[in-house]
Amino acid sequence: MNESETIIHMKNLMLRYPTGKVALSGLNMDIPQGSFVYLIGESGAGKSTLLRMIYGGLRPTSGQLKVQEQMIRGASDGQIRALRQRIGIIFQGNRLLFSRTVFENVAMPLRVQGWDAQRLLPRVKKVLSFVGLEDRLWSYPETLSGGEQQRIAIARAMISNPPLILADEPTGNLDDDTARHVLDLLTSLNKLGTTVLMATHDLHLLTSHPGHVVQLRQGALVMGQTS
Ligand SMILES: Nc1ncnc2c1ncn2[C@@H]1O[C@H](COP(=O)(O)OP(=O)(O)O)[C@@H](O)[C@H]1O
Ligand SMILES: [Mg+2]
Repeated sequence: MNESETIIHMKNLMLRYPTGKVALSGLNMDIPQGSFVYLIGESGAGKSTLLRMIYGGLRPTSGQLKVQEQMIRGASDGQIRALRQRIGIIFQGNRLLFSRTVFENVAMPLRVQGWDAQRLLPRVKKVLSFVGLEDRLWSYPETLSGGEQQRIAIARAMISNPPLILADEPTGNLDDDTARHVLDLLTSLNKLGTTVLMATHDLHLLTSHPGHVVQLRQGALVMGQTS
């Protein structure tokens, strides 16, 4: 891990929702490239809000947020679109399209980038074999278990080989064994060089899969040791 390279930089970062709610305030943090960071904190602490800002779904109200050298606050829509092609996202509750096959779900980020089916197929097969679900290529998500669906969400997040993966409570609805399997996959990706930022409240998983821990409490950082 090259600690001199920062993939996410925050300085006095603040986010106020249009309702007036200040969800995050005064965040200062640098996340080094190649690290595995757990974002912990109770419900309402601001974890999802922070992840949403990092992929440009929300613009900071004030302060600085720089992701892969892109300043988020003043970024154009085109710059945000370009940034999103370099970020893999595993949303809370996986958000697979149930009317589409596993192939179509996993291929989606590359379809957006204009890949044709001929190039897509080998790439989709490769990431599905990474998550151990190559045989489910033509299945529909509803025929898969919760853990399998989450592995499909991981395959989709990694398909464009992004340097950064954001995961919002990816083990939220899973039993312990299945949750560990999901974490094994994220850990393997991290070992291959991907930076992983994962929101969770499954603190017991941290003992089997250690990482840097960043804690939010009511929108502020409690401890931010990430390197
Ligand atoms: N779209 C929104 N509009 C207004 N307030 C919101 C919105 N989304 C979240 N919040 C509030 O911001 C705070 C942080 O929420 P969130 O980031 O979802 O926390 P966490 O993911 O840690 O549970 C909470 O008080 C929540 O109610
Ligand atoms: Mg959340």
